[in-house]
Parts: sequence; structure tokens; C-alpha cells
Amino acid sequence: MSSDAVAAVRAREVYDSRGKPTVEAEVVLAGGARGWAMVPSGASTGRHEAVELRDGGPRLRGLGVRRAVAAVHEVLAPAVAGFPAGEQGAIDAALCAADGTPDRSRLGANALLAVSMAVARASAAHAALPLWRRFADLSGAEPLLPLPMVNVFSGGLHAGGGVDVQDYLFVPLAADGVAEAIEQAVEVRLAAGDLLRERGLTTLLADEGGFGPPLPTNSAALDLLVDAMARAGMAPGSRGGIALDLAASHLARAGGYALPSEGVVRSGAEMVALVARWAATSPVVSVEDPLGEDDWAGWRQATADLGGRLQVVGDDLFVTQEARLRRGIAERVANAVLVKCNQVGTVSETLAVVALARRAGYAVVVSARSGETEDPWLADLAVGTGAGQIKVGATRTSERTSKYNRLLRIAEEMGSAARFAGRAALAGEGGASAAGPPRDIAGA
Ligand code: PGA
Ligand code: ZN
Repeated sequence: MSSDAVAAVRAREVYDSRGKPTVEAEVVLAGGARGWAMVPSGASTGRHEAVELRDGGPRLRGLGVRRAVAAVHEVLAPAVAGFPAGEQGAIDAALCAADGTPDRSRLGANALLAVSMAVARASAAHAALPLWRRFADLSGAEPLLPLPMVNVFSGGLHAGGGVDVQDYLFVPLAADGVAEAIEQAVEVRLAAGDLLRERGLTTLLADEGGFGPPLPTNSAALDLLVDAMARAGMAPGSRGGIALDLAASHLARAGGYALPSEGVVRSGAEMVALVARWAATSPVVSVEDPLGEDDWAGWRQATADLGGRLQVVGDDLFVTQEARLRRGIAERVANAVLVKCNQVGTVSETLAVVALARRAGYAVVVSARSGETEDPWLADLAVGTGAGQIKVGATRTSERTSKYNRLLRIAEEMGSAARFAGRAALAGEGGASAAGPPRDIAGA
């Protein structure tokens, strides 16, 4: 047995940032190297995501993951025993074959991802490499420190019914490095907190560590973010941009998109017009999920109308799955993809989506979930794949700052080789010097 062969795999039930159970796995290699990983969990999940296996029944309101843990011990561990950890692709293929379903519903994407990610870490440890370096080797990408889009205000399913738009994010357009980018985001957050207190509004936190104040309209939150940016010295438009995640799959109703805070139901075309209006009156540079996950016709129109100016990001639409991204590329839908490993299940499948996006000229935003853990692998994934952008939530609460802090450490580890993506990573005009519109990659 080679010294990097998988010798043991263990898993356990632990808790995420919402206090809900999640899966942690540990992998031990024959030579003694170890890797571990914890799995995040979404709230505004897409219908086409891989399945997160939960126990059901009365215990922990059905949210327990003992079945997923048992799947690791009883099925996945024997399936990968003896495989060299360096062969991530073969291991991930074995994990998927052991599950045997297209949506990972037998063993759970939570079980698969915990093992897959722990293998990547064990392999990095075996080679005495940082995890980001391992991802760079696996993806063939040039490591790159990502431009963060940083949550300041939250609504929708992450904030218990404040405004309808799920995320209002600050984008540090003029930062010249990742440390400065994070510092600017912290300043904007502090200014936002001051503004809320001055206006007598709550500073209680939403799921991603941002503020979730009750505001009268969606555009009031947008105005508040512009004010916070200005107060923090992040001149809206030149130093500070805004990214929005409408998570519109969760607003979709028969006949359109419901915006309860405004008491209206809008058609897809009206949603696109609304985003266009916001982008015309405030420094919006990126919009995610402006339409629902199955509204392909609406998305085509949205991309045609907005994609020249804005980064248009598909999250619930693509669910980090190659087939859906391939369709999007063919139909000229979106110009950027949100990447969340647990929407698909394994490291290798995630890397394949990043590679496909790359070939098509789509921007890539590596993203956390609203239920996160203290495990910072997302930072390593963003750097190692050269994704260019990262979305982690607010600069608050340790499941978020663990990733920002990891980026700061990685920047040091990279030393003189450190390169920062900056605003050029954005698709659309926000990227200013970006590579231009998506390329046609028929058959890619
Ligand atoms: P989720 O939200 O993790 O609850 O799906 C994140 C997002 O929509 O980007
Ligand atoms: Zn989203």
C-alpha cells in the first residue's frame, strides 16, 4: 500500500452556524497524513441541488445526519479504502458510484462532500502543501487571491422577512489586495451599523452575519448601503460597488415574482426592469438570481438586457452542475456562475464546473452557504482554482471570518507570488478591464 493510500475514514455529526447538525469527516492515510472537512448547508436551496441526507423523525426536528454519518462508515469508507489520496478524480468517481444516484439522494451529498474534501486535505498534508496549492495542482489554475463580495444587509429567507432581496453586498472595487479589500468591507459594515443605530433600527444579525433590519422597501436597503459606503469613504461607483442576490427562485409564484415588502407581484420582465433601474441609480455591478431556477426564457432576456453592463450570476439556476451550466452557456444565459461544492457533492465535480466556466469566459464566484462552519476550506478553494471572486457573508461571526482570516494567511503563504484578482474578475462593465463578453464554446 502506498503511503498516500486511504487507510481510514471516520465521520461524526457536528453543528453548523445555525445550530443544525452537519457532517464532519476525517481521512487518515497509510503514511499517517490526515485530513478533515466540515460541510455547510443552505437555506435558500435550489430545487436542482444534490440532496442533503437528513434523518427525519422526531430527533432534532428531523435534521440529524446520523444516516449520512453511517453512510460514510458503512459504504463510502470501504469504497475508497486503499485508493491513493492523490487521485482525487478516481476517489470522487468511487464516491459517486457508491451512491449511484444522479442527485446523491441515497447516501447524501453531505456525506460525499465531507469525505471528498477531507481526502483533498489529507493529500495536501501528505505532500506538505497548503490546501490552496493542492487545489491549484488539481485544477491546473494559477493561484489568485479573490475579490470578495461582502454581505452587509440581508433579507428573504436569511433574515426572517425583512426586505425581499436576499443579499446586499459591498464590492471593494479599488482595493489593491485582499487584506485591503477585507479592511474596506469591515469599515463599510461598521458604518452601516452606525447608520442603523442612528435611525433607531435593529443591528441584530441575519444568517450570514449581515444586518437584517425591517426596512420599508428593497430600494431603501440599497440606499442604506450606498450611504454606508459613502460614510466609510468608499465612494459609490469608483471605490465601492454593490452586488445583489435576489434569490428569486424563492420569490417565484404562479404568475410572477412576489415582493411582499412592496406588496406587488412582478413578471419576469418587470424584475429585469427593476434591476436595470437599481443599476442605473446606484453602483450595482453584479446581480445574482434575478429570476427563478427554471425560468430559462426570462434568464435569456435578463442576460441580453443586463449582461453587457452587469455581472449576472447563476446560483439556483446552475446549482454548480456541469449540465445546467453547459445549457446556460449554449443559451447565452448569465455571464457568471456561483460555485457551491455541496450543490453537487464532490471536489472533482466542482473543479469541472469551474473549468467549464473558464473555457466559456464566465466569471466564477466561489460561495459559502448560509449555514456554515468554522472550516475554512472555501478560501483555499477560491485561491487554488483562481476563481477570481469569493462570497462568504459578512465580516462578522466566526464561520465567516474563518474564511476571511484564512485568505489573509494564504496571502502571506503566497509571499511575493501573491496576486489579487481585483475588479477585473467581475464580468460586465464593473470589471472595467475584464476580458469581454462570454465566448462561444459550442461543444466545450
Ligand atoms: P443559501 O444562500 O446558502 O441559503 O442557499 C446562499 C445564496 O443564495 O447565495
Ligand atoms: Zn444565491
